[in-house]
Amino acid sequence: MMITHLLLERLSRAVLPRTPESQAIMQDPAQVHAFMDSGRSDGVLNYIYLFHAAMSLPLIRPGDVVLDLACGPANQLIHLASLHPGANFIGLDASDTMLAQAAGNLAAAGVSNVQLQRGDISRLEHFAAASVDCVLCTMSLHHLPDTQQLLQTMQQLRRVLQPEGGIYLADFGRLKRRATQHFFAHDRIELQSPQFTADFLNSMQAAFSLDELQQATAALRPGLDCYQTSLAPFMVLFRSAARQRIDTALAQRLSQRYRQLSAMEQRDFDNLLRWFRLGGLSLPCALD
Ligand SMILES: C[S@@+](CC[C@H](N)C(=O)[O-])C[C@H]1O[C@@H](n2cnc3c(N)ncnc32)[C@H](O)[C@@H]1O
Repeated sequence: MMITHLLLERLSRAVLPRTPESQAIMQDPAQVHAFMDSGRSDGVLNYIYLFHAAMSLPLIRPGDVVLDLACGPANQLIHLASLHPGANFIGLDASDTMLAQAAGNLAAAGVSNVQLQRGDISRLEHFAAASVDCVLCTMSLHHLPDTQQLLQTMQQLRRVLQPEGGIYLADFGRLKRRATQHFFAHDRIELQSPQFTADFLNSMQAAFSLDELQQATAALRPGLDCYQTSLAPFMVLFRSAARQRIDTALAQRLSQRYRQLSAMEQRDFDNLLRWFRLGGLSLPCALD
């Protein structure tokens, strides 16, 4: 089924218009809970968070200040901060409801190297120039209202990030067919709440196109490596060059996290890895 959708995407000449998120800043408690639950250890997004943590492994050094843009309930931050206990993370989000959940999640996970801040990712004036060593953003850029604010976010980031700082930006890319968007939003319907399914479909429809993402990220750093899931940009990611070699301890922490995934999550992780590998991206270290 999935391969049929991907082939039809490949063949399609359609260009679907973008439908921006109606609730860009996620304040509604029902929406926030649905999203948060999807990232718990048994949630449908959990393996994706570990995937991003794995792919961003060579970008984060001990002692770094790492900014997670639009951090939501800190599901991604928990993976990152526990893999990199020597780095200092800042989670920035414009939603008080999300930040309250994030604080609770971090406390429950016993993670202490994360500081949360309320703020708009397209207005980073309160960060000093070159005060951030690495920036990450997962599944959030599509919440920006338009390409102008996407560009503004990248321009702001350019100022606050060290010139050689790490960059990891991952999001959905806009697909060409409504049917493919519908397929991905409903693929795991038995494991997700109706609210999450509706929000997932909205995210697919709000996604920027690959071209729009490439144009904007060039304002942050020209020539960033860009990877996508093969055949269709279901997921797109931009990553800067490695900043450190992955030592044995870090590789072991990642392997341990992978072993903690359920069998189904490991399969999903491996499949996502294969799908990206066909698009040119590999894991930065082996999982044992
Ligand atoms: C789909 S969630 C993703 C959260 C997180 N990055 C993750 O991967 O789990 C999108 C988040 O972006 C936040 N958001 C949307 N627009 C924002 C903006 N302009 N500035 C800061 N946060 C924003 C929302 O409040 C929400 O928490």
